[in-house]
Amino acid sequence: MKITVVGGGSTYTPELIEGFARRADVLPVDELVLHDINTERLDVIGGLARRILARHGYPGRLTTTTDRAEAVDGAAAVLIQLRVGGQAARLVDETLPNDFGLLGQETTGPGGFAKALRTVPVVLDIAEEVRRRAQPGAWIVDFTNPVGIVTRALLDAGHRAVGLCNVAIKFQRQLAALLGTDPDRVRLGHAGLNHLSWIRSVTVDGLDRLPDLLTGKTLDELAAQVRLPAGALRDLGAIPSYYLHYFYCTQEEIRTQQAGAHRAEQVLAIEKELLTLYADPALDSKPDLLEQRGGAYYSEAAAALVTSLLTGDGAHHYVNIRNDGLLAGLPDEAVVEVAADVDTAGPRPVPVPPLPPEMLGLVQAVTAYETLTVKAALTGDRTVARRALMANPLVREWGVADTLLDALLEANRRHLPRF
Ligand code: G6P
Ligand code: MN
Repeated sequence: MKITVVGGGSTYTPELIEGFARRADVLPVDELVLHDINTERLDVIGGLARRILARHGYPGRLTTTTDRAEAVDGAAAVLIQLRVGGQAARLVDETLPNDFGLLGQETTGPGGFAKALRTVPVVLDIAEEVRRRAQPGAWIVDFTNPVGIVTRALLDAGHRAVGLCNVAIKFQRQLAALLGTDPDRVRLGHAGLNHLSWIRSVTVDGLDRLPDLLTGKTLDELAAQVRLPAGALRDLGAIPSYYLHYFYCTQEEIRTQQAGAHRAEQVLAIEKELLTLYADPALDSKPDLLEQRGGAYYSEAAAALVTSLLTGDGAHHYVNIRNDGLLAGLPDEAVVEVAADVDTAGPRPVPVPPLPPEMLGLVQAVTAYETLTVKAALTGDRTVARRALMANPLVREWGVADTLLDALLEANRRHLPRF
């Protein structure tokens, strides 16, 4: 069995490799392939990956290549984890919207929109290569952000794809620790869209512990963690993902951004240091510094999901899939982020109780934005792009959308051949 990672030069890859190494007994991989267009990073990450696998006594081999066709040839699963334009483009996503009085963020609001325009065509192109060369029925697992939009584009194009994010698994681990129980016993009533989700129940052995968590000290702790006032969690009766901070505290966030440092710059510095550490031939595990990145447990989620898709173990995951009637009030074609049991036929979602109006309204608006954004990314149609921005609750005003679009397209020109 062959598994390919497109964007294998990512600084997250050592974690992913550890995830596969730990699963060697359940997921028999003959070949792990790291593909990247950046040879320097590929060499460094490939070197560390080999040392990690050797430490685990991993039976499979690891190859690195810049040849995409070769990379996906005969693969059973292809993981896509790339960032078009790197951290430099992310910095624009995080800063340019501020000039329009709007919030800058890499996956939500206008920044996420620009990222989607840059990314959708690139990922679809890779997916076509997978269709041509990978094993029939090969799975695409997408972590490339914005995951909801990219997964929607992949599914619309008929690919066998699942979108993945670490927000839910991170909560599952943290809530399990708070409740003093094993993460595998915790089931989250996690639903919504990617980076627009709420946890509406936390079930341990059939008992919903969320009401206990939303009181006293744990309520304050959870609220601080998602950067929201405790009252917001109490009113919702749910734990919103930390991306809801951008929707529920928009003005406060804009003020913070205008004064502060940008995440893209911090990540650049962390990555530089990580690459230096990774290049050390004595290093054969992922360094603690990697924990300063937002993607904690992402490897765990990814390696476990690939295991379920390829071995059919039926394990529980939180995934991005077609709505198909799951969330009432949303189109079937929408891509939603929900809990599912996964086997070789794909994710089988756990039923979701209807969303209350305040959640449904937001999810509907953002779905409308996502639908239009996919269309804009595929066509390069400026009218559709403006309509997408008007549908986005973090933009909305036509005048702003109009001038903002020009600025975003200009700043991203070399990554947007369709516009
Ligand atoms: C979370 C999100 C990811 C995102 C990451 C950013 O993990 O789920 O989708 O890429 O945060 O982390 P970073 O360290 O790049 O700011
Ligand atoms: Mn994510």
